Amino acid sequence: MLSQIRALADKISPRLIEIRRHLHSHPELSGQEYKTAAYVAGVLSSCGLHVQEMVGKTGVVAELAGGEAEGILAIRADMDALPIRELTGLDYASDQLGIMHACGHDVHTTVGLGTAMILSQLEVPLPGTTRFLFQPAEETAQGARWMLKDGVMKDVAAVLGLHVYPSVMAGDIGIRYGALTAAADDLEIIIVGESGHGARPHEAVDAIWIASQVITTLQQSISRTQNPLHPLVLTIGQISGGRAPNVIADSVKLLGTVRSLHPDTREHLPQWIENIVAGVCQPYGAKFEVNFRRGVPSVMNDEALTQITQSCVEEAFGSEHVQLIYEPSLGAEDFSVYLEHAPGTMFRLGVGFHDRPVNYPLHHPKFEVDEMAIARGVVTMAYSACRYWASRTEP
Ligand code: NI
Repeated sequence: MLSQIRALADKISPRLIEIRRHLHSHPELSGQEYKTAAYVAGVLSSCGLHVQEMVGKTGVVAELAGGEAEGILAIRADMDALPIRELTGLDYASDQLGIMHACGHDVHTTVGLGTAMILSQLEVPLPGTTRFLFQPAEETAQGARWMLKDGVMKDVAAVLGLHVYPSVMAGDIGIRYGALTAAADDLEIIIVGESGHGARPHEAVDAIWIASQVITTLQQSISRTQNPLHPLVLTIGQISGGRAPNVIADSVKLLGTVRSLHPDTREHLPQWIENIVAGVCQPYGAKFEVNFRRGVPSVMNDEALTQITQSCVEEAFGSEHVQLIYEPSLGAEDFSVYLEHAPGTMFRLGVGFHDRPVNYPLHHPKFEVDEMAIARGVVTMAYSACRYWASRTEP
């Protein structure tokens, strides 16, 4: 099986690089992946898959029929780009001013397509159905929910995904057991005081001063009231309020993001924040509103599926190409939304250049990918799919 996958990957490699460069030159923003979706659908149709467009708004779903085995294996790739002006100077750089595939979703889409090409050409068809999910709007953490609403997880028994990573060298695959990324929730706090003359603070309720105490108290409370072994990051990234230097502000709005790894921590966050804000506001007579909006949960990699991917990498490329990841990231990834419906695992595809002193990070205008990683990604994904099916159908 592996030698067949390898041979097919070698054969399609030049075509995959062509596909990736095409996608890279024509990036589209979240929710506007019209041309990308049409292109993806075209490639999938030419592999003989049953293709559905406009799933989850601008997503594409394709099914590769197999044997009668129960449950569907889903393979997910995201397709959107970022509002970043590309500065790589590549001859296939973005032709859309201010839009760039700076998170490698062009590579994810290419690996998804390559996997479909390989699995559809296997001599012996897979024992069950494989469903390819090409989702829009990952960067805005909306696409997975759109796809889910359109029923893409129906009958899915497991889901596989990948993300490129520039600090892992091309050729290597990052494997993580347990939490890969954090839960990311949005926070809005509005503090309402009472306006007054800047010279007569005792006649007013200063919303700016109270807001500064709310921020300080929240940060200090993390250190004194939260389990230090359960990471929690609360960042207020935007603050607005006040009208003039000599007028006491009557209202301040704080906007932030809250990242956590442990489900218990996440569960009690809204109440914990509300209590702190109330405790600061009430003695001074300020009113407040706390709006905690749940974003995406943490990506929790399933142990058995992660084990399958790891052993596939070891067998295909050698154990020296497995990079075990010991620390989760507090970044967010909406792959986790699928994991609320079926177990799954996401691996990190190393795309860093060995011979460069600097590999620019994701979301950087000079972010680049060593394209030798694409074939590695395709072999890892296709072989993991085969091994998953073998694990399901072995007596
Ligand atoms: Ni990404």
